[in-house]
Amino acid sequence: MTRAWNKADWRQKPRVQMPDYTDAVALADVEAKLAKYPPLVFAGEVRTLKSQLAQVSRGEAFLLQGGDCAESFSEFDAVGIRDTFKVMLQMAMVLTYAAKVPVVKVGRMAGQFAKPRSAATETVGGIELPSYRGDIVNDIAFTAESRIPDPQRMLQAYTQSAASLNLLRAFSHGGYADVHQVHAWTLGFTDRDEAELYRDMANRISDALDFMKAAGVSADTAHTLRSVDFYTSHEALLLEYEEALCRIDSTTGLPVAGSGHLIWIGDRTRQPDGAHVDFCRGVQNPIGLKCGPSMTVEDLKLLMERLNPENEAGRLTLIARFGAGSVGDHLPRLVECVRQEGANVVWSCDPMHGNTIKSASGYKTRPFESVLREVREFFEIHKAEGTHPGGVHFEMTGRDVTECTGGVRDVTDDDLSSRYHTACDPRLNASQSLELAFLVAEEIRATQEQTAVAAV
Ligand code: PEP
Ligand code: CO
Repeated sequence: MTRAWNKADWRQKPRVQMPDYTDAVALADVEAKLAKYPPLVFAGEVRTLKSQLAQVSRGEAFLLQGGDCAESFSEFDAVGIRDTFKVMLQMAMVLTYAAKVPVVKVGRMAGQFAKPRSAATETVGGIELPSYRGDIVNDIAFTAESRIPDPQRMLQAYTQSAASLNLLRAFSHGGYADVHQVHAWTLGFTDRDEAELYRDMANRISDALDFMKAAGVSADTAHTLRSVDFYTSHEALLLEYEEALCRIDSTTGLPVAGSGHLIWIGDRTRQPDGAHVDFCRGVQNPIGLKCGPSMTVEDLKLLMERLNPENEAGRLTLIARFGAGSVGDHLPRLVECVRQEGANVVWSCDPMHGNTIKSASGYKTRPFESVLREVREFFEIHKAEGTHPGGVHFEMTGRDVTECTGGVRDVTDDDLSSRYHTACDPRLNASQSLELAFLVAEEIRATQEQTAVAAV
């Protein structure tokens, strides 16, 4: 039985990582406006995503979640959205083709604006100011005025999310994502090793499509190849915004977060009795839960009970982010706990947030080798435990940035300054993302082979 819940209950709970708005009247005005606006996503879509994640939890599909660490107002344009969407389609195609699994595609897009920070203030040249908390809260410029939380920014985030979703829906269903375009997605990626690999695969897919056409595959089947389902997700950090966009699903009569299809709870805001868990427990959306090194078995049990009391498959995705070299110290106890509880969860791997370092040149970066190593450790442990490594969660962009070091096109420490654009954490660029997709496909295949051998 679910306990009574109201979308404003979180206000009575301890909160962390949220801004203190100074102008209560301006805040209430923005909340009232947002409460009247249409939801960004619809309950039926949220239910479909949940059923697809249920397939992932049963080992029948794979989750690919990716996008910016933080979306920004200044970097917003159609090309940026198209390129990230395109790389995610390519990655999904690699996983589907090489590992023969359906891929559930979820962008960290159209709502990923609010950021938790490790310190409340930032000091530069002896001046201390409040930290930047994402464009939905304050401005990144280092001035006292910019750092004041401004509720009006929520309206701009809403508008930008609506425009992004409009474009994503058009790309998903308007012909761009048609698998017959598999070659066109490579444009802009010429003469690179992973592009070569991708082109080989695209040739084979084209051959298969020609064969299907010649063999008279029905129009019905062909239809499913002409569009994709693409979902949005973000960290549900700014609860005034989340509450204002919460709606009642007219089909089920239950509350749904209208801000994005999947929302997640960050590693810093997952206190079982805190505000963020309270808000998320009441909405019907799929919920992600970041699990870092400090996650205890007791907390995980409590959180699973609060967030998924009915043990519904597809409701809860546990996103492991321990850091390369540390997965073995933490993941096995959590996998064991999930097993003992008989809990239905999706296991996903975020190999980004445990692997951030400061480079010699002073930039925050993530070495590609550490990202890959964490992914491999995640797969190894699931192989050893006999559980399903359900997905991956990347901070990535379709742009040709230089923010993470390494990869086949070896980005060096010295290169970081050339195209470092992120508003927050370093992202994999398009070629690093595609390279990783090929490596993840190998891991999935190895897991499948082991399962097949075990079944003989
Ligand atoms: C993030 O996903 O951007 C993030 C802050 O992650 P975590 O909560 O895992 O640190
Ligand atoms: Co991040």
